[in-house]
Amino acid sequence: MKAPASKGTPTFIIEAINNHKIINKQIGMTKKDKRQDRNNKKNKLISTQHPNQDVNDVIGGGAGAGGWNMKTSSMADKADRHQCYETAVQSPKADIGFCNKVFHLYRHRKAIHFKEDFSGTGILATEWVKSDPERTALCVDLDDATLQWGMQHHVKEAGAAGERVTMKCANVLDVKDPKVDLIASFNYSICLFHQRSLMLRYFQAAYESLVDDGVLVCDLFGGYQATYTPTVQHRRFDDFVYTWSKEHYNGLTNEIMCSISFSFADKSSLKRSFVYDFRLWTVAEFKEAMLEAGFKDIRVWWRNERKVNQPSQDDSINTSDTRSNKKSATKVDDDDQADDVDVEVDEAEEEVVDENKLRYKEKKQMKQQRKGALEQMEELEINQAKQQEALLEHLGTSSDYIEVDSIPQTASWNVYVVALR
Ligand SMILES: C[S@@+](CC[C@H](N)C(=O)[O-])C[C@H]1O[C@@H](n2cnc3c(N)ncnc32)[C@H](O)[C@@H]1O
Repeated sequence: MKAPASKGTPTFIIEAINNHKIINKQIGMTKKDKRQDRNNKKNKLISTQHPNQDVNDVIGGGAGAGGWNMKTSSMADKADRHQCYETAVQSPKADIGFCNKVFHLYRHRKAIHFKEDFSGTGILATEWVKSDPERTALCVDLDDATLQWGMQHHVKEAGAAGERVTMKCANVLDVKDPKVDLIASFNYSICLFHQRSLMLRYFQAAYESLVDDGVLVCDLFGGYQATYTPTVQHRRFDDFVYTWSKEHYNGLTNEIMCSISFSFADKSSLKRSFVYDFRLWTVAEFKEAMLEAGFKDIRVWWRNERKVNQPSQDDSINTSDTRSNKKSATKVDDDDQADDVDVEVDEAEEEVVDENKLRYKEKKQMKQQRKGALEQMEELEINQAKQQEALLEHLGTSSDYIEVDSIPQTASWNVYVVALR
């Protein structure tokens, strides 16, 4: 299930550049050669064989057949975006644990039939059926390719339990049968509906597809920093760095464009691998529409991100954790280091042509801008961490999920909204 293991590190890139420097000095290249050499350097990542790669993997033949100049597939080419997404974003055990907890708390029985609306790959539905031999699950999503991926990677992998999962490529507004005990609608999917009329239709459809004591659980994010754009947050995993970008916010419509990108040790990336065009609803708006759809009671649970998404890797960067956020900056500094070496090589040239001076200046400017942005981001995240502490103090507990009836003004929060039929 993991993306291809990365054994290469950015130091490999630095070494390659350093080696270039030595070669330049040794053979006393002409200006033209040096220019050509610089161009080659720009293409270093595609023309240099990756340490993870067998020589036979070089497209079009090995080194003897001119393989060093042939395009090799990058780590991004080899990565699977769904695997990266699931590693970085999803916590199926925690989510199912939470669903069990609230259903039992309010209904005093075990939920059997589950529907995962906006299911994507159906990782939750699979976790659900694996948790109990009686349980069944229905996944509903518009994207057939994603459902197919989930069928191959989760449902079939689950063996006999997987036979209790049904996948349906359809609009969630249209699927009202069969009736289920519990519906989960996660990762802010309801925010894909921009009009209140559609949001209401969704709650009506969910209400109709639940049994009499059924429960709908969905999630929502907010806080004054939620609409602060552009912002990026990074988290480091074994095989990639995950980047969540809030790209653009329209203050008049509350529409917010977000994306997820993945970058790899060989500097390749899957940019904007997932793009979300959300309308940011408030909990109050959700509650009103849920009651209008017929739900009898609405409960809100605050999710303690630090507890729920505790990264398994020691060096993961939890965006709400100031200490580990510093690692995020370190990662960017790693890249800077590679740039530094590049610049040093230019400086070492005996005659620096105008073109080089300009490039050098531009790079310096870019670096300064990047540093400025990082400092700003760090400051923002320190504030965010302080806010989290204050919130925990306000709530008087540090457990992973807490039922709340108010949240003080805070930088960012994630909640589950639980609608009881
Ligand atoms: C934000 S993703 C969430 C995926 C998954 N639930 C998760 O937690 O990662 C939204 C998903 O909803 C699907 N989708 C969007 N509009 C839909 C609709 N009206 N009916 C069904 N699926 C929809 C998209 O194809 C996408 O897979």
